[in-house]
Amino acid sequence: MSEKIRIAIDGPAASGKSTTARLLAQKLGYLYIDTGAMYRAATLAVLKAGINVDDEAAVVRCVRENKISLKISDGILKTFLNGEDVSHLIRTPQINKVISKISSYKGVRKVLIEQQREMAKQGGVVMDGRDIGTVVLPDAELKVFLVAGLKERARRRKLELELQGIELSIEEIEKEIANRDRLDSERDESPLQKAEDARVLDTTNLTVDEQVDIIYGWTQEILKTLREKPAAGDR
Ligand code: DC
Repeated sequence: MSEKIRIAIDGPAASGKSTTARLLAQKLGYLYIDTGAMYRAATLAVLKAGINVDDEAAVVRCVRENKISLKISDGILKTFLNGEDVSHLIRTPQINKVISKISSYKGVRKVLIEQQREMAKQGGVVMDGRDIGTVVLPDAELKVFLVAGLKERARRRKLELELQGIELSIEEIEKEIANRDRLDSERDESPLQKAEDARVLDTTNLTVDEQVDIIYGWTQEILKTLREKPAAGDR
C-alpha cells in the first residue's frame, strides 16, 4: 500500500476549503489541486473569447481548446490559462456571476474532471471542490465536507476581496455566496453534495490552523490503519 493517500475536501463557497487544503498539502508534502480555480480559469477563457454563456456547445468547445494548468510557486498555487498567469483575474465578481452556469455544463465538467483524475493518479494529493468525494475521486481514502455559517463565510470572503482592492458590502457578498450555493447544489451534473462517507467539519468557530490540525489528525489515523492492514498477499 502506498504511503500517500488522496484527500477530498468539498463544501460550499467560502467555507475555507482552499486555504485549509493548501496548508494541509504543505504540511503533508502532498500536491494541492484547487478544482475551483480550474472552473474559474475555464470561465475566464469563455468571457475572454466573448462567447455567449448560454451557448453550451460553444462554451464546451472553448474549454476544450484552452489549456488550464496549476503550478505551485513559492508555496502559492498559481493558475495558468494558455501559459498566462491568471491567478488574480479569476477571482473577480464578473467570474463569480457566471461561473455556476459554466460549471453546470456536462461537457465542461467532463474535460476538467478527466484532468483532475489524471493529476490525482499517483496519490499524495489534497483536492478541493464541490464534487471531489462524490464524483472525481469516489475512492479517496479521506473525504471531508467543510461547512460554516453564511455570515462567517461572507466575513472571510470580504477580507479576501479587500486584499485584492475589491470593495463589496457584506450584504452583497452574502447574497452572491448564497445564490452560488443554491445553483451549485441544485444543478443536475455533480451537484455540491456531501459524500455519504465524508467527515463533516464545521469551521465557523475554528481558526485555519485548527482546521488544518484536525484534518491532519484524521490523515494520520488513516495512514496508521493502512500501515497496520496486512497486504492482500500476506493473508
Ligand atoms: O471553490 P470556488 O469558489 O473557487 O469555486 C468556484 C465555482 O466553481 C463554484 O461556484 C462551482 C464551481 N466548482 C464546481 O462546480 N466543481 C468543483 N469541483 C469546483 C468548483
